[in-house]
Amino acid sequence: MKSVTNPLAYLNDELGDLRARGLFRWPRLLSGPQAPVAVYDGREVINLCANNYLNLVTHPRLKEAARQAIDDLGVGPGAVRTIAGNLAIHRELEAELARFKRTEATLLFQSGFAANAGTVAAVLGKEDVIVSDELNHASIIDGARLSGATKQIFPHRDVEAVRRLLGESQGARRLLLITDGVFSMDGDIAPLPDLVAAAEEFGAIMMVDDAHASGVLGRQGRGTIDHFHLHGRVHIQVGTLSKAFAGLGGYVAGSETLIDYLIHRARPLLFSTSHPPSVSAAALAAVRLVQEDDRPITRLWENTGFFKEGLKRLGFDTGISETPITPIIVGDESRAVRFSDTLFERGVFALAVAFPTVARGKARVRTIVTAGHTREHLERALDAFRRAGEELRLI
Ligand SMILES: Cc1ncc(COP(=O)(O)O)c(C=O)c1O
Repeated sequence: MKSVTNPLAYLNDELGDLRARGLFRWPRLLSGPQAPVAVYDGREVINLCANNYLNLVTHPRLKEAARQAIDDLGVGPGAVRTIAGNLAIHRELEAELARFKRTEATLLFQSGFAANAGTVAAVLGKEDVIVSDELNHASIIDGARLSGATKQIFPHRDVEAVRRLLGESQGARRLLLITDGVFSMDGDIAPLPDLVAAAEEFGAIMMVDDAHASGVLGRQGRGTIDHFHLHGRVHIQVGTLSKAFAGLGGYVAGSETLIDYLIHRARPLLFSTSHPPSVSAAALAAVRLVQEDDRPITRLWENTGFFKEGLKRLGFDTGISETPITPIIVGDESRAVRFSDTLFERGVFALAVAFPTVARGKARVRTIVTAGHTREHLERALDAFRRAGEELRLI
């Protein structure tokens, strides 16, 4: 007979290791709404952590749309999409997103994560090759693992390496070249025109994860494909509804054939319940709003320029960022954590990010400004960065 031991005891060892390295922590607790100034751990702070780029989380139009959908349609879809949960509001949102993205069709997923992982796993198999930027999002990496395809990882934004790997992989059944449009930890933009040209030359499927570009880059926030005028040349686009569009969900944009295929083969759609109507209704209101009113996006970029310039003027290393995501590179992990904690004590919430989310020795504090921050918020935040930076001898 087996002795009675706890088969999960190893979890304590793993957690002990995290504690010993100062890496054990629960996320700070938000009470009240997700806003440019918000209450975390009981303290009111200037919030530079959220992906609420356009400050739409609390927008009256989105809230009203969600409320109305609950009144009219209830709180849940009652089934997975492919059984009985294919709601008219899902299709209405997909049609609006297709117009927005200038593609034939789109397909909703429960999240951006599910859209990436589900799509990569559906379009590739083990006879195929995926050529992927080393800093691509975890959902792409997981999709690649699920697909069983051979992974060829290229150094960040290195187009020469891409061309070499595509050339070497010509024997594969299918080739997929995939990149984030905007990289979530560095805030830089993929060299999309060159990547698209390489995909065309080597006959690869081109896929872009535009989670951080949708609602941010391109005309009215149409994303990197619009920003670089590459309409019609990227086969698969992924977007999220959980960042600039303030709610929850992801979508794939592409040809009708692609969408017809995914509704039959993407496992998150086949085996997990679709969005509640209120989630789709709020997203629909958000997508319409950005097309009618360009003030939130204009404001976002004005704030981005002001804050980024301010950080640079103070002498911080903001890496290669070109978007509202601005990292302040610190290097050492524990120093980055101390920097973030000191900022919090001074009334600013900016999270420390360390290995394995970013490379070792590249720990940082990551900031995202939103359209909802006022000049006064950003000036106060810069003042806190100056004091904390001097205290930790970062500047
Ligand atoms: C680049 C990137 N892709 C995909 C996702 C996943 O999106 P979602 O939060 O909608 O699942 C995220 C972030 O969460 C992301 O940063």
